[in-house]
Amino acid sequence: HNDMGADLAKVLISKDEIDAKLLELAERIDRDYAGRDLLIVGVLKGAVMVMADLARALHSQVTMDWMAVSSYGMGTKSSGVVRILKDLDTDIAGRDVLIVEDIIDSGLTLSWLLGNLGSRGPASLKVCTLLRKPDAAKVEIDVAYVGFDIPNEFVVGYGLDYAEKLRNLPFIGTLAPHVYGG
Ligand code: PRP
Ligand code: MN
Ligand code: MG
Repeated sequence: HNDMGADLAKVLISKDEIDAKLLELAERIDRDYAGRDLLIVGVLKGAVMVMADLARALHSQVTMDWMAVSSYGMGTKSSGVVRILKDLDTDIAGRDVLIVEDIIDSGLTLSWLLGNLGSRGPASLKVCTLLRKPDAAKVEIDVAYVGFDIPNEFVVGYGLDYAEKLRNLPFIGTLAPHVYGG
């Protein structure tokens, strides 16, 4: 088999820590959107795990849609050029929309997405991200729900990939230097 551990330097955030944090965020989201009709939008592919676990931690009924954008391709650096690979199925005009992301790194993907979705006339548009790298920010983004602020290291697992690999790790780890030639 293909051992995922061999490509890792260390575990940064364990599965238990992720689960506990998502419960906290879900409780806040339940409270903040009480009595409203929330649409959560997962950003493929990285946000798959966060969406699946966050949605199940919520008590409120929500609807789910997906958008696929890509800015990293096969590299380790954001190109800044965002491509829509799959658009929403939902018309979000007048809707309460919460974008769900796995990570905000440079912020370029989300800043572009906020502009794009914002122009469609949602009633409200907010962001929930499991991870954020404050030291990597190239644009400042107002984020309503943040799981963890992390150091500026290349992280993988729980949806996050390196060249499409390691997404299925159940925790967040940092990449071993030999993998990216460091
Ligand atoms: C990653 C990650 C975020 C984005 C964050 O997606 O899932 O969506 O980059 O980076 P930024 O803040 O520097 O823009 P990626 O483009 O790798 O696509 P993926 O989700 O399919 O892996
Ligand atoms: Mn992504
Ligand atoms: Mg990626």
